[in-house]
Amino acid sequence: VQTIEWVDGAVVIVDQTALPGRTVQLRLSTVEELVDAIRRLAVRGAPALGVAGAFGVALAARQHAGDADGLARAVALVETARPTAVNLARGARRAAALLPDAGAVLAEALAVHAEEIASSAALAVLGADLVAELCGVAPRLLTHCNTGALAAVEGGTALAVVFELHRRGRLAEVIAAETRPLLQGSRLTAWELGQAGVPFRLAVDSAGPFLMARGLIDAVILGADRICANGDVVNKVGSYAHALGARAAGIPFICVAPESTVDLATASGDLVDIEDRGAAEVVGFAGVPVAPPGAGAVNPAFDVTPHDLVTAIVTERRVVRLDRDEKL
Ligand code: MRU
Repeated sequence: VQTIEWVDGAVVIVDQTALPGRTVQLRLSTVEELVDAIRRLAVRGAPALGVAGAFGVALAARQHAGDADGLARAVALVETARPTAVNLARGARRAAALLPDAGAVLAEALAVHAEEIASSAALAVLGADLVAELCGVAPRLLTHCNTGALAAVEGGTALAVVFELHRRGRLAEVIAAETRPLLQGSRLTAWELGQAGVPFRLAVDSAGPFLMARGLIDAVILGADRICANGDVVNKVGSYAHALGARAAGIPFICVAPESTVDLATASGDLVDIEDRGAAEVVGFAGVPVAPPGAGAVNPAFDVTPHDLVTAIVTERRVVRLDRDEKL
């Protein structure tokens, strides 16, 4: 089962809101259904969002054939469904460049899909080589959020590196940060690691820097939603705290992402629109209140790790050693 694919004129996704309890596929036949799935995080993770953006335009081309205004509105809806991961708008724009030729749009969207699969395979090897070089034979890695196949199409980004290290027999353990408030770490990463037989334990997000200080983590490895031209890494909220912990403990902080996440048009992280998902996700979980009635909350879905805290950025094409002043 792929995380996201095009089947008989519709987008079929694994509904990530149902995991780890149930593996459910959703068939999305309209732009509105797809945009709703993106906003609810039924499909999520930067590379998967890039594919969703391109497929969304393919849906729009069919739904609004001969209606230029309706088509433009539908494409804008897809592009802006979530603001932070550059892949979404980039995937949508790439497909939209072929409009109104619905066949050419679909071919381009399928190319985005295929490229993400190839990227995951290539960056897994480069990333595993780097971890082996920096951390030796049996590293203990901390990861944050979910960067596996569920965040891409197959393989993933940082977790693809983890899977490759495990395949090589060169991994001691993964500590998966649970990733409040929506628990992508405990619901999704733990599920993927378990399926793959990778040894792992969960930790609450705030334990990360302390575990590093105690010498229990050899490197932090995670993904990105956008990598800015200066190397600032925009990723799931909590990443920055791990980066500060890694710097204090003197261990590497490695970001793994496809080139489709590198945004050279955005100079630095302070220019990125960080999605705020509203108070409800913080004051309750799965319909159960975890705060007193009336409590407000601030809920940035992402944060920015400044480039000087990042040891290296790994893509499918290159390893950029920011710690050696290499530039993107
Ligand atoms: O809000 P989400 O779950 O879409 O956030 C996802 C992340 O922050 C991931 O770490 C990032 O997209 C990298 S995925 C390979």
